[in-house]
Amino acid sequence: MNARVDISSEFVDPDDLDNNRSANPHFENVLAAGLQRRSVLRGGVGGAMAAMFAPLALTACGGDDDVVTANPVTPPVAAPVEILLGFTAVARTLADTSTVPGGYTATTIFATGDPLAAGVPAYKNDGTDTNYAQRSGDCHDGMEYFGLSATGTRNDTSNDRALLGINHEYITPVVLHVAGPTRADPALPLSLANGRPASQVDIEIDCHGVAIVEIAKTAGKFATVQASTFNRRITGDTPIEISGPARGNPLLVTKFSPDGTRTRGTINNCGTGKTPWGTLLTGEENWSGYYFRPAGDQALRPAKENTSFARYGRNVTATANANSRYGWETAGTDDRYAHWNIGVLGATAADDYRYEHNGQGYMTEIDPYSPTSTINKRTALGRFAHESAAFGKAVVGKPLAVYMGCDSQNEYIYKWVSAASWSAADGAAADRMAVGDKYLDNGKLYAAVFNDDGTGEWRELSIGNPVVASYANYAFADAGDVAINARLAADAVGATKMDRPEWCGVHPTTGEVYFALTNNSSRRVAPTGTQTRVNASNPRAYSDVRSGTVVQSGNVHGHILRMKDAGGEPGATTFTWDIYLFGAEAGSDPTLVNLSGLSNDNDFSSPDGLVFSQSTGICWVQTDDGAYTDVTNCMMVAAMPGTLGDGGVKTLNYGSVSVQTPVGKVPEGSKLKRFFVGPYDCEVTGMCETPDGKVMFINVQHPGDGTAAADLADASKYTSQWPSNVGYGAGKRPRSATVMITKNDNGRVGS
Ligand code: FEO
Ligand code: CA
Ligand code: CA
Ligand code: CA
Repeated sequence: MNARVDISSEFVDPDDLDNNRSANPHFENVLAAGLQRRSVLRGGVGGAMAAMFAPLALTACGGDDDVVTANPVTPPVAAPVEILLGFTAVARTLADTSTVPGGYTATTIFATGDPLAAGVPAYKNDGTDTNYAQRSGDCHDGMEYFGLSATGTRNDTSNDRALLGINHEYITPVVLHVAGPTRADPALPLSLANGRPASQVDIEIDCHGVAIVEIAKTAGKFATVQASTFNRRITGDTPIEISGPARGNPLLVTKFSPDGTRTRGTINNCGTGKTPWGTLLTGEENWSGYYFRPAGDQALRPAKENTSFARYGRNVTATANANSRYGWETAGTDDRYAHWNIGVLGATAADDYRYEHNGQGYMTEIDPYSPTSTINKRTALGRFAHESAAFGKAVVGKPLAVYMGCDSQNEYIYKWVSAASWSAADGAAADRMAVGDKYLDNGKLYAAVFNDDGTGEWRELSIGNPVVASYANYAFADAGDVAINARLAADAVGATKMDRPEWCGVHPTTGEVYFALTNNSSRRVAPTGTQTRVNASNPRAYSDVRSGTVVQSGNVHGHILRMKDAGGEPGATTFTWDIYLFGAEAGSDPTLVNLSGLSNDNDFSSPDGLVFSQSTGICWVQTDDGAYTDVTNCMMVAAMPGTLGDGGVKTLNYGSVSVQTPVGKVPEGSKLKRFFVGPYDCEVTGMCETPDGKVMFINVQHPGDGTAAADLADASKYTSQWPSNVGYGAGKRPRSATVMITKNDNGRVGS
């Protein structure tokens, strides 16, 4: 998200948080050290990997002419030669529409407020709609495709009928209410006496969470199925089980769950993951700011609880509250609202919600095929600002690896390794949540250390690791405490502070893991205060200048880092890495900014969503930007990356300071092209597709979120009228929505 939050009427980017005050190393020694190329970086991956992944029917991307071709086995007749990225790049644009290349069609299919049950009225889109627990939520984000057979059973190869699992990350409050969000007296601070109307808060809570929605083809074209019994909404108020090491922990005891085994709601759901057994993982990202913590609360807590709150962004003083993003706790004394106040208010933890905050920040697992199934927060995967969860290839007899990022300034990259080894039978098991118990509740969580020489190390976050157990800044009580305070455990092991780790994806043929590092306004060559020094894995710090004025500094445009576990082993504790691609504006300084030689056809800023097509192998990169939005709306680019180490070493000279970093090969135009530009004031996010790669689904989030409440009566003043201006739905208020993209010749998307 990169949104204006209207309650405070200030411009706030809730993603751009910095709560990492740990003393973890800033790689000062990178500045002096020469970067030694490791032979492993040059290792011939292509041939071996092509053999290993032969069933995917893709040729490996190792050579100089590495065009990925269609499966030569299946076509019954001579098929036309498919050239991936054969389309003409879409130009940058500020047009308020969804732009795709010639020969492609974009169709809006599922927008904020669309009904998800029989009898729910069509969306009026004028601020009077209610019952969002049976409608699409707002701010569509990560998304996965779950195939359905004609008879309504799981079918992973179905191209005609499916369930979409869609995250609804947050809300654009101004368009959800008749005259925007209100309180009794706007001149006075929010409080119970001057609170938000409960009717508005009900809408806002229900607009969060996840939607499971059936799609099916009619006359060859997908549409949502309003009355499907598979449709389900999980909201900010849905009861959810705690599983894994934190289940029953004293730090999860609340009035709602005195035994610490349950909580309510999943909020700020950003990236997703799809498990090999057919369930959805939804990542809870910027959940911390939803909670109100009153001034003076710090005096009522043990010191370690205040350390935890500071690390997760809910610090208070004797006089300063931590105010909540939307003021839900002010809507009344009913428990539905009261539990958003996390102050010590009662005699014991079972009398109040002092530990409610510990119930968010997880990878939460949902079985999309079973609308009444229990939902589980998989605490073993750690509590932080979760983005996506990318599974390494599931290999029978080996543990499963899951890669994850924590998106705040200077936060970390994580990996989960299951204790159980993968069994093929589990991939088709009927009780999918039990399979989740097996692979996601027991195992090891690691945080990444990036050495300046292109190597790296996964360091274990467990109470059994003496470095964690003896951490001076926080006395971990048990394994549950380590999971709940995973950021502190990662501080303890000296994880590397990164430029806001966003989504990650695993390349379907090489197995290399790609991480979007969106940007970092606190990265500096010569840091002061809480700023962080450039290093090999986060090597850029510069200023973005508009009309002679510096508008922002640091790593302004973000980069994409690539890593490979040693030997391709999921349980490896070492890895190698390089920087595949640097975001930049075309024409900018090629020595310190535009290091990947981006052109008008492919320049982008602030990579966020990152998903590999399992059909074509294309790496789809989506942006959530504030640095290039004077020139272009947010976008999606298609990339055909090579392999780790294919670009050598680059030296960035900052006067007396220089940084050497391993980089990817500068992409030729045929390997990186802009494919989609979204409407005004939006972020492009979420990507899934049919197994044949012919239908792609992406999400447009928060178009027109710069619209002012005072302008709601005059549609001409909305900063976006999408998607009504492309013919979708009633009313002209902007709406987040899922967009379906198809190629007019019925080819694979991206060809
Ligand atoms: Fe969920 Fe940090 O974008
Ligand atoms: Ca995002
Ligand atoms: Ca973002
Ligand atoms: Ca700029």
